[in-house]
Amino acid sequence: MHLILLGPPGAGKGTQAQRVAERYDIPQISTGDILRGAVKEGTALGRKAVSFMDAGQLVPDDLMLDLVRERLGRDDCSEGFILDGFPRTVPQAEGLEKVLTDLGESVNHVLSMKVDSELLVKRLTARRVCPDCGRGYNLQTQPPNKEGICDACGASLIQRSDDVEKTIRNRLKVYENQTAPLEGFYRGKGLLHLIDGVGTIGEVFERMVAGLDALNSNGEL
Ligand code: AP5
Ligand code: MG
Repeated sequence: MHLILLGPPGAGKGTQAQRVAERYDIPQISTGDILRGAVKEGTALGRKAVSFMDAGQLVPDDLMLDLVRERLGRDDCSEGFILDGFPRTVPQAEGLEKVLTDLGESVNHVLSMKVDSELLVKRLTARRVCPDCGRGYNLQTQPPNKEGICDACGASLIQRSDDVEKTIRNRLKVYENQTAPLEGFYRGKGLLHLIDGVGTIGEVFERMVAGLDALNSNGEL
């Protein structure tokens, strides 16, 4: 099962990829999470990436492809994976094909999540995350039991540095200009499936699983 989850910022890629990964026992590979980890640790990659991320711009393709080549080569990817936030440009998608060909694999399906822009801005301005255990919250839909405090580990919740409205709007523009063309790229290969990303988290997950199980029973996964 080699899956790609496409979708604009706030579509629910991370939320759904985590659930899909658990359901099918494959790793979730979030390039955003890997980059934020590198920034936190102050690695060379993190130092190169941070200014792009804080501006809502994409990190250069060559850095992203090096990162993904290394990650997909690890043992836990031998039965498949779900990519969350990669590829984000046509050169990244072409680079991914080469990486997978070298590993004797290929992408099976691309799920593209559709959510209207104003709802995306609402979701992202309300998102909070735990800096210690990584658990996600949303002030509108999934608030913590005690304001500002992680239910799981008691740490103080923070807002992602790119979750301020001006940067969110920039990320949405970058998505439209640089990432949305990937729908055409994958449609042309017969791999694209559109998923309505509006509804509760559980409803969207059920839609994804129904789609994936149908592909599975057709022998396509
Ligand atoms: P990345 O971390 O990938 O961010 P993004 O694409 O902007 O997406 P988000 O993580 O903000 O949203 P999501 O779709 O995961 O939604 P989530 O599930 O959290 O990338 C960050 C940056 O890193 C980029 O800007 C770039 O600089 C760099 N980068 C990363 N990958 C790169 C690449 N390949 N190339 C170049 N640069 C790269 O949900 C959002 C909120 O909504 C949450 O609070 C959640 O609880 C809530 N929510 C989710 N689903 C629902 C629902 N159904 N109903 C109600 N609320 C919901
Ligand atoms: Mg995410």
